[in-house]
Amino acid sequence: MSSKKVILITGGTGLLGKGMEETMPENCDIISIHLHPCKMNDSNVKHLVLDIRDKSAVEQLFIKYRFDAVIHAAGIASVDYVKNNYAESLESNIVGTLNISSMCRKGGAYLIYISSNAVFDGLSAPYDETSKPNPVNEYGEIKLECERLIEKTIPDACIIRPILMYGWNHLACRTNPVTWLIEKLKTGQKVNVVDDVWENPLYNQQCGEAIWKAIEMRPGGKVHLAGADVLNRFQLALLTAEVFGLDRGLITAVKSTCFPDLAPRPPNTSFSTHKMQELLGVKPVSVRAGLEDMHMREVIV
Ligand SMILES: NC(=O)c1ccc[n+]([C@@H]2O[C@H](COP(=O)([O-])OP(=O)(O)OC[C@H]3O[C@@H](n4cnc5c(N)ncnc54)[C@H](OP(=O)(O)O)[C@@H]3O)[C@@H](O)[C@H]2O)c1
Repeated sequence: MSSKKVILITGGTGLLGKGMEETMPENCDIISIHLHPCKMNDSNVKHLVLDIRDKSAVEQLFIKYRFDAVIHAAGIASVDYVKNNYAESLESNIVGTLNISSMCRKGGAYLIYISSNAVFDGLSAPYDETSKPNPVNEYGEIKLECERLIEKTIPDACIIRPILMYGWNHLACRTNPVTWLIEKLKTGQKVNVVDDVWENPLYNQQCGEAIWKAIEMRPGGKVHLAGADVLNRFQLALLTAEVFGLDRGLITAVKSTCFPDLAPRPPNTSFSTHKMQELLGVKPVSVRAGLEDMHMREVIV
């Protein structure tokens, strides 16, 4: 590799990793690790299949490369999958985080751990970086445990908490509320969407830009990332249909109680974006602007 900065992204094929790839500055190279083989036609990034639960594979990776920064985003991140597969999720997130953070400490690489709004109970929004976590589901508990582990292993690491993200994901990866809805409406399917879960949704491109700023500035401590507008999921669905010219009549508002088998969601985890703006200099974009950018990219493709 050249004299550029080398950045490791764990979980690089996820929505966050894609946002980082697409906003990558010219003076950086990315090494992206993920669990499954995935053919990337649109990628100028070095992709490697590597299981972060495998301590010796992680050690070998850190012996082979010297990373200027490590963005640790890998792990099982589906709230409902975690509820139904708790032991597997614990191993993926906790063991993986232990392996990555201990190699960062050994090699002195700057570490950003990607946490979540799921560490909050959603009862006293807006949440800033000093707010007290109190998760309401297993996923949130695991993310909080990982934060604590990071704080113990590398006290000056950065913990970034993105809120609900949307954007174009790699085709092989799980959908997000916007791509899920587009798929459904394009095929004429009716959907029920909850109107009692609120966030200020974050465009994955903006998430990428903010993380690149953090890599440049190397802050320690916590930073919340979110978009400009607080919306419930039903409002997000209506706006998505409008921007993409799809049938809003197919969308019905329902309450979370309609989905008793799903993991409980915190009702309103919307974030304060003061620190994101003041420390990183990143101004949150409106959801309409993010969706319009997605729509434009779809048309170009
Ligand atoms: N998406 C959101 O709305 C959101 C909101 C708040 C916080 N976050 C956090 O942001 C981070 C990234 O989320 P995302 O939505 O981009 O994730 P995602 O789309 O679910 O992707 C997860 C990534 O982790 C990889 N991975 C899973 N287990 C692994 C293992 N054992 N070894 C190596 N790689 C592994 C996956 O690889 P394969 O695809 O090959 O399996 C994939 O690249 C997560 O930490 C999540 O908790 C996400």
